[in-house]
Amino acid sequence: MYKILVKQQLAPSVQLFEVEAPLIAKKAKPGQFVILRVNDQGERIPLTIADFNREKGSVTLIFQEVGASTVELGRLQQGDFLLDLVGPLGKPTHIEKFGTVVCVGGGIGIAPVYPIARGLKEAGNEVISIIGARSEDILIYEEEMAAVSDQLIITTDDGSKGIKALVTQPLKELLDSDKTIGLVVAIGPVIMMKFVAETTRPYGVPTVVSLNPIMVDGTGMCGGCRVSVGQENKFACVDGPEFDAHKVDFESLMARQRMYKPHEKQHSEYIAG
Ligand code: FES
Repeated sequence: MYKILVKQQLAPSVQLFEVEAPLIAKKAKPGQFVILRVNDQGERIPLTIADFNREKGSVTLIFQEVGASTVELGRLQQGDFLLDLVGPLGKPTHIEKFGTVVCVGGGIGIAPVYPIARGLKEAGNEVISIIGARSEDILIYEEEMAAVSDQLIITTDDGSKGIKALVTQPLKELLDSDKTIGLVVAIGPVIMMKFVAETTRPYGVPTVVSLNPIMVDGTGMCGGCRVSVGQENKFACVDGPEFDAHKVDFESLMARQRMYKPHEKQHSEYIAG
């Protein structure tokens, strides 16, 4: 059982849990994820690790209440326990000195970008971060991202904070500038990651995205997290979750997401009722 040490509401329907998990905290690296269950009837929820504190023996998880399982998770309070927490899973982000890197986070995806940006900064890179949300009230991790970035650019769809634009607009401006960008890392909604990939592709700038498809076992056995990368089938849980954005088949990923949506909605209504 894994105790929730801290519960914090970051934005409407976005929660942060700091969970006691010393063994996971000891081994966790940026880019990795965990799979948790609230109770023994609950679905397995994959969440990227937003932070880890080795001294305290805790990991920070941030999630949005979008479906039945995450709504159920959000009902837990500080002091409650998660039934299980497996991890760290997946391959860590490849961190080295690339020179100037751009870290792009959209919506809830800003949380998993944070430890990567911090790792890249610690490795001596100039880190330019672009974070975006629909509006200011759902923008998370602004201060944290500012602390690990040499430059922080904020975009919102409605212009309530920063530039009224999608994250790809300032990204394109950076690519057009005289800076040499060694790497772009993008995490957010699939559609955002697809457009980031399309933005960097003509410039030939290596681009990494972190995929978070449906996951069941997290060990490469069930096939639930299958994604097509470079026309090969890969499993996000063991081969990823990060992949070369220019090789990911985003269309098939979005089609699979749509396939799962009606079921998730039904389940959510059931729980809410
Ligand atoms: Fe089952 Fe990846 S979650 S194969």
